[in-house]
Amino acid sequence: MNTGVGSTEPMNNAAPLQLFHEWVEGPEVALATATPDGRPSVRMVLLKSADEHGFTFFTGYESRKGRELEANPRAALLFHRPGIQVRVEGPVERVPASESDTYWATRPEASRRSAAASHQSQPVGSREELEAGVDAQPAQPPRPERWGGYRLVPDTYEFWRHRDDRLHERHLFRARGDGWDVVMLQP
Ligand SMILES: Cc1cc2nc3c(=O)[nH]c(=O)nc-3n(C[C@H](O)[C@H](O)[C@H](O)COP(=O)(O)O)c2cc1C
Repeated sequence: MNTGVGSTEPMNNAAPLQLFHEWVEGPEVALATATPDGRPSVRMVLLKSADEHGFTFFTGYESRKGRELEANPRAALLFHRPGIQVRVEGPVERVPASESDTYWATRPEASRRSAAASHQSQPVGSREELEAGVDAQPAQPPRPERWGGYRLVPDTYEFWRHRDDRLHERHLFRARGDGWDVVMLQP
């Protein structure tokens, strides 16, 4: 893994999105949301893209996370990989329906039928009931309106790297104008 910078090298000129791609491989990420009155919840999702538009993942808009994001559209992402963690925070918006349609069309048929049948985060009586809902789907179900993408637009990144002496490295990036302020944090 190329972690981009040495311990004595300042990160002041680094673009955090570029650093993110140098540090993080693989799509698994923990997504934290909260209710408007501040009750947090966290779960894993798969990141589909991270680019100049933001960090995009797909889910059920009526799921617990979806309801929390609709009421309180801010979130935090945590990427943990061996020896590092990267935290990304910011406001969240739905991606355009056309973009959700495009991604929906790339998903395997079984995934589309499962998502079309599932009212994510709602109770269900049994596995059989769930599977009957999938069986009732057509072979090529259209994307339900309740399923689609969200995009987190980062206003904060933190890059953390392990050191054996526990004097771990932390750099906090905060959006300012067109650029980023960077500070080193104590471990
Ligand atoms: C590795 C991993 C990846 C996952 N990816 C997604 C995903 O991309 N979208 C999604 O809706 N749920 C995904 N899930 C399931 C979620 O963790 C969660 O169970 C589900 O979205 C319901 O969460 P909620 O009730 O808090 O809304 C994933 C689970 C794991 C373990």
